[in-house]
Amino acid sequence: MRNHSPNIAIFASGSGSNAVQIINHFKTENIDTHFFVLSNKKDAAVLEKTEALGATTMSFSREEFYNSGKIVRFLTENSVQLVVLAGFLWLVPQNLLEAFPNKIINIHPALLPKYGGKGMYGMRVHTAVVEAQEKETGITIHFVDEEYDHGKTILQKTCNLDPSDSPETVAKKVRQLEHKYFPLVVKELYNDI
Ligand code: GRF
Repeated sequence: MRNHSPNIAIFASGSGSNAVQIINHFKTENIDTHFFVLSNKKDAAVLEKTEALGATTMSFSREEFYNSGKIVRFLTENSVQLVVLAGFLWLVPQNLLEAFPNKIINIHPALLPKYGGKGMYGMRVHTAVVEAQEKETGITIHFVDEEYDHGKTILQKTCNLDPSDSPETVAKKVRQLEHKYFPLVVKELYNDI
């Protein structure tokens, strides 16, 4: 039986559609955890959207993220035990990796190791997939390590592509997979804490 109440942190800097799906999934399942949503962008849409769902939000500077213990302190003081990157583009520093071994996960909108690495994000990924005339693409949910899009894979799901697909239609297919599977993986890992 669990005798503590682990909380979850989501790092994001974009529209936050995945963060919203995750939080809503936990609400639907009546899982009593608190979400902290952190962003390097003060005005990221994800902050407003998740605050409306009851999350505690905060933003931070590059200096605070890389050259202070502020973020790790904030997370540990708030009983965070699982860290989810959902549209967060900065490399995770060593002090954060060490504070949460095997407890930081990321979602990438392609089938890693293909189409990953620094600078491979958003529509750039889907454009590269279309240009290479891939027959399928998908999502990769993986543990985070000191390299971009590199840690051990937790789950991959694929979708088929047609010659008529554009980067925009690929993005739509991939997004559906993200919204369906990311909350389930987060919940599974949460249950294992
Ligand atoms: C997703 O496509 C995810 O795979 C990538 O960043 C995007 C975030 O989208 N890591 P959103 O902000 O959750 O809508």
